[in-house]
Amino acid sequence: MANTAELTVDGKSYSFPTLEGTEHEKAFDISNLRDQTGYVTLDRGYKNTGATKSAITFLDGEQGILQYRGYAIEDLAAKASFLEVAYLLIYGELPTKDQYSQFETSIRRHTLVNEDMRKIFDGFPVKAHPMGVLASLVSAMSAFYSDLEGAEGDKTDLHIIRLLAKLPTIATWSYKRSQGHPINYPKNSLDYIPNFLNMMFSLPVEDYKIDPVVVEALNVLLILHADHEQNCSTSTVRLVGSSQANIYSSISAGISALWGPLHGGANQEVIEMLEDIKADGGDVAKYVDMAKNAKTTGFRLFGFGHRVYKNFDPRAKIIKKAADDVLSKLGINDPVLEIAKGLEEAALHDDYFVSRKLYPNVDFYSGIIYRALGIPTNMFTVMFAIGRLPGWIAQWKEMREQKEPIGRPRQIYTGPTLREFVSLENR
Ligand code: SDX
Repeated sequence: MANTAELTVDGKSYSFPTLEGTEHEKAFDISNLRDQTGYVTLDRGYKNTGATKSAITFLDGEQGILQYRGYAIEDLAAKASFLEVAYLLIYGELPTKDQYSQFETSIRRHTLVNEDMRKIFDGFPVKAHPMGVLASLVSAMSAFYSDLEGAEGDKTDLHIIRLLAKLPTIATWSYKRSQGHPINYPKNSLDYIPNFLNMMFSLPVEDYKIDPVVVEALNVLLILHADHEQNCSTSTVRLVGSSQANIYSSISAGISALWGPLHGGANQEVIEMLEDIKADGGDVAKYVDMAKNAKTTGFRLFGFGHRVYKNFDPRAKIIKKAADDVLSKLGINDPVLEIAKGLEEAALHDDYFVSRKLYPNVDFYSGIIYRALGIPTNMFTVMFAIGRLPGWIAQWKEMREQKEPIGRPRQIYTGPTLREFVSLENR
């Protein structure tokens, strides 16, 4: 029997259907709430509000569970390649050998970017933050690849290939120019991650040797960042796409949302915070106290806390272990890693954090690995965007296939009530 939720307001009773997902999450369906009751709901930050039904990613914040299309993140991080996971998220199944070969070959053959896009790129100041450049150039792709405008169905797959193929190429441009180095072109002879590394770090004056330890570490990091259900940037992609805006504009909006320090920008903030703590003598207790008195100090422990995870972020667990592995394999001793571990230890034994269920999140340790791989701090959130791209694409595609209505939230107006206009000379 279908359940209902009973609501009594203004002396009248109303029934609303409830629904349950495949992982037993429950919801009241309030699609007719305002028509029936005249009321809307208010839920700042959408902490309790589901925007959609989705079959892509499941996470359980209490248990610390994360699954992409039913596969445990731990399995995928240990056994899959990033492009296999991208295919899984976007098309719903792990690819067969033939499907993977076709997908991977198409991506390999679309890594080159229209040379005229370099003119837009050259207009940016050298110090421009790579996230601002990335968001602008991805939006510009809608001008260079407009031949597919409005062409749905199989044409969408070409949009998808172009985004997955070209984002790493564009992402490396900012870094190369910031170093005063010539931009590198992609090579069809290289796999996805080695191609990115070569574009990032190779120089015309000497051969660049791809380190398999670095490739494997990046593969794990990109998989762990690939999707995360209805987070801020994904919800942005879906909302923009719900107006029938093209996929490039929708993804560009997602990149801008991810840039914020409360979201994907936190990985850069974490390293800068850890560096500050190190420069200040490494006294983690002092910074834990500052975080507890945030209202007076204004200090927040970046990389801690999460809207959904009220237990350990499963990605943080994997990244923390990977940080130890990668740094030891690369023979790097980074004192900032020890400071991070000390901060985690202090916070997880402090009632302020325990009572608020504030645990390390995906951003807490990721920057330590990026840094060990030679990736500069201001490129950390770009790495997050490269990882999250398949998830954004999958969610955009699902939103379109589900024919979701245009997103348009309601509000409660608290401004002035109707008043007479007073002309300027009388004011
Ligand atoms: C990501 O949604 C996703 O899935 C995002 C993400 C993804 O994969 O897409 O997982 C990626 O964005 C991870 C989060 C990265 N952001 C940070 O690390 C920034 C620091 N963390 C926070 O600002 C905060 O925890 C959020 C933004 C992540 C979550 O914020 P909420 O859910 O709105 O919680 P809140 O700000 O209301 O905090 C609840 C309480 C408050 O204290 P009280 O008002 O109850 O006294 O916890 C405190 C906050 O002050 N708090 C912190 C804290 N985070 C929350 N106190 C100190 N340090 C922190 N980091």
